[in-house]
Amino acid sequence: MTERIAVIPGDGIGHEVVPATLRVLDAVVEFEYDHVEAGDAVAERTGEPLPAETLEAVTNADATLFGATGETSADVILPLRDAVDSFVNIRPARTYPGVDAVQPETDLVILRENTEGVYAGMEDRLTEDVSTLTRLVTQSASRRLAEFACDYADSNGHDGFTIAHKNNVMRVTDGLFVDTIREVASERGVDADDAYMDAMATHLAMDPTQYDVIVCPNLAGDVLSDLAAGLVGGLGLLPSANVGSERGIFEPVHGCAPDIAGEGVANPAATIFSAAMLLDFLDYDDEAAAVRTAVETTLAEGPRTPDLGGNATTDEVADAVVDRLS
Ligand code: NAI
Ligand code: MG
Repeated sequence: MTERIAVIPGDGIGHEVVPATLRVLDAVVEFEYDHVEAGDAVAERTGEPLPAETLEAVTNADATLFGATGETSADVILPLRDAVDSFVNIRPARTYPGVDAVQPETDLVILRENTEGVYAGMEDRLTEDVSTLTRLVTQSASRRLAEFACDYADSNGHDGFTIAHKNNVMRVTDGLFVDTIREVASERGVDADDAYMDAMATHLAMDPTQYDVIVCPNLAGDVLSDLAAGLVGGLGLLPSANVGSERGIFEPVHGCAPDIAGEGVANPAATIFSAAMLLDFLDYDDEAAAVRTAVETTLAEGPRTPDLGGNATTDEVADAVVDRLS
């Protein structure tokens, strides 16, 4: 069976890193692609950042490769995550030989709750003066995340995980989050410790080796993964996978980078690593490993894009990766 992959470049550098990544995928596996649009540009043209056709393509695809969108991001990626019932966002952050990193020993995986917390969309402007936001935490979503985290730790050889939270302040919501995850971990015999997310930010900056797998609420995962990107050499390196029970959306952690869009110098590594996660998800284990090795060799030996101190273009990096695959 040829799997069907929805492809959404989005805006800005999405139009550079996604085509580069498709060339890498073409070198290892034959998929059937469904090219669709989302984001600021299509919204400007049609008034709709997430056309029905795009939502349908993602819903019908085995997996989706997503670049990045701009100001309409929340209107695009949040409904798409819902459409594939993606309850967890997997965000690995590690260093690579040849890439200067603030913390060269970093090797982390952030498992971010992907459906609720403060991103559940329950915001109100009550009066001229007052606005409110409802923070949603359910036992069912926390349990599902915990089950996933236990499976993830087991199948990837991790000792356990650390829960990031603020249950000293958000006693009810993060209380439920931490208690539920701890309960599942104990049922499953997986080690779970926990840390206040603000203190964790300090620890991550000073000594990220204290952590391995971090399980956290939605906003904390968003912030901590950008922090982790800073530790390992920048946003150009961090992939992510929005995983549901049957489908997934694979996207770099970075946005559409309007400051460099159009110059052809965006680092494609984050998107290519995201494609490797897509290959893992569809059980192309050997192909995923080959793609990772080819990108790692390219990071080590060059060519490199300007964010990593080089002067290569996006396409030159993708060409080098493709060459190393053949
Ligand atoms: P950003 O990730 O687009 O850029 C932050 C900085 O990192 C910029 O200096 C950019 O040049 C650099 N950068 C990012 N990716 C890079 C790459 N592959 N290679 C080299 N340098 C790279 O985040 P920013 O500036 O906060 O947001 C820009 C736009 O992107 C906003 O409209 C925002 O809403 C959107 N955004 C979309 C996301 C998504 O589609 N999931 C995620 C984050 C932001
Ligand atoms: Mg973010």
